[in-house]
Amino acid sequence: MKLGVCYYPEHWPESDWPNDARMMREAGLTHVRIGEFAWSRLEPRQGVYDWDWLDKAIHVLSSAGLEITLGTPTATPPKWLVDAHPDILPVDENGHPRKFGSRRHYCFSSATYRAESSRIVEALARRYGNHPGVTMWQTDNEYGHHGSDESFSPDAILAFRGWLEARYADISALNAAWGTVFWSQTYNRFDEVDPPCATVTEANPSHRLDWRRFCSDQMCSFNQLQVDIIRRHSPGRAVTHNFIGDFFRLDHRDISRALDVATWDSYPIGLLSESQSTEEQKARWLRAGDPDFAAFNHDVFRACAPRWAVMEQQPGPVNWATYNAAPAPGMVRLWTWEAFAHGAAFVSYFRWRQAPFAQEQMHAGLLAPDRTPQPVLEEVRAVGRKAALIADLKQEKADVAIFLDYPSLWQHEIQPHGNRVGPLEPSRTVYAACRRLGLNVDFVFSDTPLDGYRIILVPSVPILSGETCEAFKSSGALVFATALTGSRTDCGHIPAGLAPGVLAEAFGVRVEQLETLPPFEKIGIRINDQNFSGGRWRETITTGADVRARFAKGEPAWVRNGRFQYAAFWPGGDLMVELVKRLCGEAGVPCRDIGPDLRLRRAGDIQFAFNYGPGRQDLRQIGAPDEAGDYLIGAPDLAPHDLAVWKTTPAN
Ligand code: GAL
Repeated sequence: MKLGVCYYPEHWPESDWPNDARMMREAGLTHVRIGEFAWSRLEPRQGVYDWDWLDKAIHVLSSAGLEITLGTPTATPPKWLVDAHPDILPVDENGHPRKFGSRRHYCFSSATYRAESSRIVEALARRYGNHPGVTMWQTDNEYGHHGSDESFSPDAILAFRGWLEARYADISALNAAWGTVFWSQTYNRFDEVDPPCATVTEANPSHRLDWRRFCSDQMCSFNQLQVDIIRRHSPGRAVTHNFIGDFFRLDHRDISRALDVATWDSYPIGLLSESQSTEEQKARWLRAGDPDFAAFNHDVFRACAPRWAVMEQQPGPVNWATYNAAPAPGMVRLWTWEAFAHGAAFVSYFRWRQAPFAQEQMHAGLLAPDRTPQPVLEEVRAVGRKAALIADLKQEKADVAIFLDYPSLWQHEIQPHGNRVGPLEPSRTVYAACRRLGLNVDFVFSDTPLDGYRIILVPSVPILSGETCEAFKSSGALVFATALTGSRTDCGHIPAGLAPGVLAEAFGVRVEQLETLPPFEKIGIRINDQNFSGGRWRETITTGADVRARFAKGEPAWVRNGRFQYAAFWPGGDLMVELVKRLCGEAGVPCRDIGPDLRLRRAGDIQFAFNYGPGRQDLRQIGAPDEAGDYLIGAPDLAPHDLAVWKTTPAN
C-alpha cells in the first residue's frame, strides 16, 4: 500500500525538482512515475540522445527516497521520426493518416515503428535498467486510447491478412467462418481481404470479430516487444502498463500475461460523466463517481495479473469529459482507500502539478500551476498517515465470481441486437447488484481456476467454449446465466443447436427467439407471487428444467436445472439485485441489501465501508461495532464521502 504521483520533470525548471521531490516525500508519497511522453527530449534528433536531464531528474528523485517507475515514451513519436517515416502514422477508416500534434499517433502494425520503438526502449533500458532508483517500468501509455487500437494503414492491412492466414490456413475456412456466401462476400485469396471498414452498410460481423481479435493481438505483441527488451536489460524490475478504465477493446487478461503488475487509470467522475448512466444517477454521484465504476475496474485488473495498482488517480476536475465537476471533499481519500481495500499495490495520482500550457492545462494536479498545494494534498497526507496501520491486507477468494470474456464483449459491440447497449453493461449491472448486496466479487476468465466459488454469474456472455462449460460443471458452483449466453460460436455464428449452445444441456434450455424491447416496454416477470420487471432482452425458450418464474403470459422466464440456472431475459438493476439475493440464499452466501450509496469491501479480517452518497449512514445497521474506539478509521455514523474501517470478529 504505497502512494505515488505522475511527474513530468521536463515540464519544469530543473531548479524546481529538488523542492518537488521534498514536497512529495512530505506528503507521504514514495513512488513517482516519469518519462512516458518524453521521447523528443530524450532524442531531439535521430540518434542524438540527451540523457543529461533524465540522469539528473532520476538522481534528484531517487536521492529524495522516491522509487521511480520509468515509462517508455512510445506513445509520443517525435516530429522528426514522423517526418522521416510517415508510414508509422495510424490511418483512419477513410484512409486518412491521423497526424502529428497530439499523442498516440502510431500504428501498432508499422514495422518501422516497431523497430524504432525497440530502439528507444533498448537505449532507455540499457541506460537505466540497473539504476537502483528505477524499480518499475511502464510500457507506453494507455494502449488503444483515442481510437488508436485501430489503424487501417497498408502495414495493418498486410498484417491482418497474415493474421487471418495463420488462423485459417485455407481461404475456404475463412469463407465458412465468416459466412461469406451471404451477400456474395466470398474471397478467393487472403490478399483480397481488407479490414471491415467504410462499407456501405454493416460489415460482416465475423469479419469484425476477427478484426477486434487482430487489433488486440497487435497491441499485445507490440507490448511484448518492449517487455522482452526491458527484461533483458533491467533484471528484477517489475513491468507494468497503465490501462484505460472501462475500455475493453484490448484483452487485458491476454496482454497482462507479459506483465508483473496490471495498472489502470482511475478517473471516477470523468467515467460517470461519459457513461450511459441515467441523469438521476449522474446527478446523485456528480462529485463522487458511480459507487461501482472504479471498483469494477479494480476487480477486473486484480484478476489479470499477480499484482495490480492504480497508476493515475483523479485528483480534482479533469478536462476531457462532457462535464468536469470537482470531486467532493474527501472523495480522493475515499477512492484511494477503496483501491487499497481491493488489493492495490499502490495508488499514484495524476498529476503532481497542473500544467499551465498545452492540452491538459485545465486538468487539475495536486499542485496548482503556480505550485500552490491544492487542498486535496491534505487528503493524500491523511491516507499516508494511516497506511501503515492497515498494511498487509489479505485478499481472499470471494464466494461469488463473474465470468468475463473479451471476444464476447466485442460480439456485443458488433451485434448488440438493438442500439444503446454498451458491451460492458451486462457485466457492470450484475457487478453492481453484487456490490449492493455487500458482496466481495472476483472476475474470472476462461483460464481462471473455478474451484471454491459458490456462485458463478454469467452475464449474457455469448461466446463460451466447451472447456468453459466443463469447468462450470466441475466447479461445483451454482451457475447463473442471463439471456444471450452461449448464443454464438467462436466465429460469431448462431450455434447449430441454437442458444445457449454448449450450455444447452446443462441448463436444459433451447432458445427459440430473442427480442429486444425499448425501455418503456417493461418485461413483466412473476416470481412466486411477486411481480417484477426486466428490460431489453427477452427470449422465448423451451425447457425441460424446473420453471422458477414466468413471463406475464405464462412462458418460462427463469429455470433451474440442478446447479444451473438460466434467465431468459435481462434483469435490469432492481430485479438483478433480487435475483442475486435469491441465488445467495440458495448457495449459502450471506448478503444484505445495503442500498445505492454504501459500499463494502472485506480484506481478510479488515472490513471497509465507503459512503458515496449525499446522506449519513449508520453502520451499526449492518453489524459494525457500536463504539468509535473500535474503528481503525472513522466511526459508526458515517458522513457523506467518508469511509470507515474496522477489524471483524468471527461473529460479524
Ligand atoms: C489519461 C492519460 C494521461 C492524462 C490523463 C488525463 O488517460 O494516461 O496521460 O492524459 O488521462 O486525465
